[in-house]
Amino acid sequence: MGNESSTPVDDAVPPTTLHGRTIEAVARYIEEKDVHNIVVMTGAGISTSAGIPDFRSPETGLYANLARLNLPYAEAVFDISYFRTNPLPFYALAHELFPGKYRPTVTHAFISLLHKKGKLLQLFTQNIDCLEREAGVPGEKIVEAHGSFATQRCIECHTEYPDDKMKEMVMNKEVPHCVRKSCDGLVKPDIVFFGEALPEAFHQKRGLPARADLAIVMGTSLTVQPFASLPSFVREETPRVLINLERVGSFGSRPDDVLLLGDCDEGVRKFADALGWRDELEELWDSTNPNKDTKKKQQEPPKTRQEALDDEVEKLTRDIDASLKLSSQANERIRSELEKPSSTVTSDSQSPPNSVTRDEVTSDKVTTQAATDLVHVFPHLKEDRSDKPSL
Ligand code: APR
Repeated sequence: MGNESSTPVDDAVPPTTLHGRTIEAVARYIEEKDVHNIVVMTGAGISTSAGIPDFRSPETGLYANLARLNLPYAEAVFDISYFRTNPLPFYALAHELFPGKYRPTVTHAFISLLHKKGKLLQLFTQNIDCLEREAGVPGEKIVEAHGSFATQRCIECHTEYPDDKMKEMVMNKEVPHCVRKSCDGLVKPDIVFFGEALPEAFHQKRGLPARADLAIVMGTSLTVQPFASLPSFVREETPRVLINLERVGSFGSRPDDVLLLGDCDEGVRKFADALGWRDELEELWDSTNPNKDTKKKQQEPPKTRQEALDDEVEKLTRDIDASLKLSSQANERIRSELEKPSSTVTSDSQSPPNSVTRDEVTSDKVTTQAATDLVHVFPHLKEDRSDKPSL
C-alpha cells in the first residue's frame, strides 16, 4: 500500500492470477472470470491525440512550454496564490482548454465501452477536459480528482457563478468576478489548483480500487499525490494493466502487472482486438465525431498527431505570453500615471483628479482586468461595478 517497490518483477516469476503477463491473458481472464468491477485511472496522456497537450512530456508538455514564459514557474498557472495576484495566464489557458472544442479519443471510447458492457466499477481521472463524459461515461461513474470546468465559483465567498456567463467570459478572454457586488472576488472553475483540497467524491471512493477485479491505468505520470497512490490500493493478486508511453509508479513490480508501453490509442485497440470488441470500439468512437458526414474531412490532408499537438502547444503558450505582456504593460501604464505629481494615491483612497480611469486604460477587456489586478495596491482602482449587469 502507498509507497511500493518499483523494482520490476523477475521474468522467471510466474503470474499468480493470469496465465501470462500479456494483454491476451488479461482478455482471457476478463472472459473466464466474468470480470465486471474494473477500476480505470487516467491522466492527460489519454487526451493528447485529441490535441490537448499533457503536462510533463519533455517536448510537447505544457510545463516545458510555459517554462519559457515569465511565469515564476510553469505550475504557477495552476497555483491558487499566483492566481490571486494574476489570473490572466490561467484564463488564457482556459480559453484554449474550455470543453466543447475537442473530440474524445478512442481511449475515452474504450472506457465508455467498458461501462456499456457493465464492467466499469469506477473511473478516476485527473483530467479537466470532460472528454470522458462526452464519450458517454455517466457522471456517477467518474471521479474528477482534480475537478473540471463543469462548475465555477468565487474563490472568496464560494458563491456559484452561472455556467452560461462563465462560458461567455472565457470565450471573450475576460476574467469573471463574483456575482455579489459587495464581494467582487475572482471566479475560478472548480479545478483543483496546487494547494487546494481534492473533491469529497475522491475521498468517498478512494477505497474502490481495493474492491476491483482489474485495474487499468492510462496516460499518467503518477507524479501528483494523492491520486498517484490509487494503483497501490489494488489487491496484490488483482491484475493491473498500464497503457502508457513510459513505465510509471510501481508498475511491473507485481507478478500480475501487464505493461503495454506505447501510445494509449494503439494500446486500447490491441486490448479490444484481444477481447473481440474492436468493431464495437470503432463504432462507438465514430459516434463521437461531430462532423463525420461532412466532405470537408476528405479535402484537407489530415495533420499528423505531432503537427496538431505542436500547433496547439504553440497557440497555448502564445496566448499565455500575450496575457502576461498585457498585464505588465497595463501595470507599467498605471504606475507611470500614478507617478505624475497630481495623481498620488490619497489616504482616503479617493481617486486623484486625473488618475487613470477604466476607459483610458482599456482598449481590451484583458487590460482592464490587469488594471484591477493592482486594486490591492491602489484601492482607488477598484472599478465601480454598479454598471455591470446584475446576474
Ligand atoms: N499515449 C500514452 N501515454 C501518453 C501519451 C499517449 N499518446 N501522451 C502522453 N503520455 C504519457 C506521458 O508519457 C506521461 O507519462 O502520459 C503521462 C502524462 O503525464 P503528465 O503530463 O504528468 O500528466 P498527468 O499525469 O495527468 O499529470 C497529473 O499534474 O499538474 C498536474 O493537475 C495536473 O492533473 C495533472 C497532474
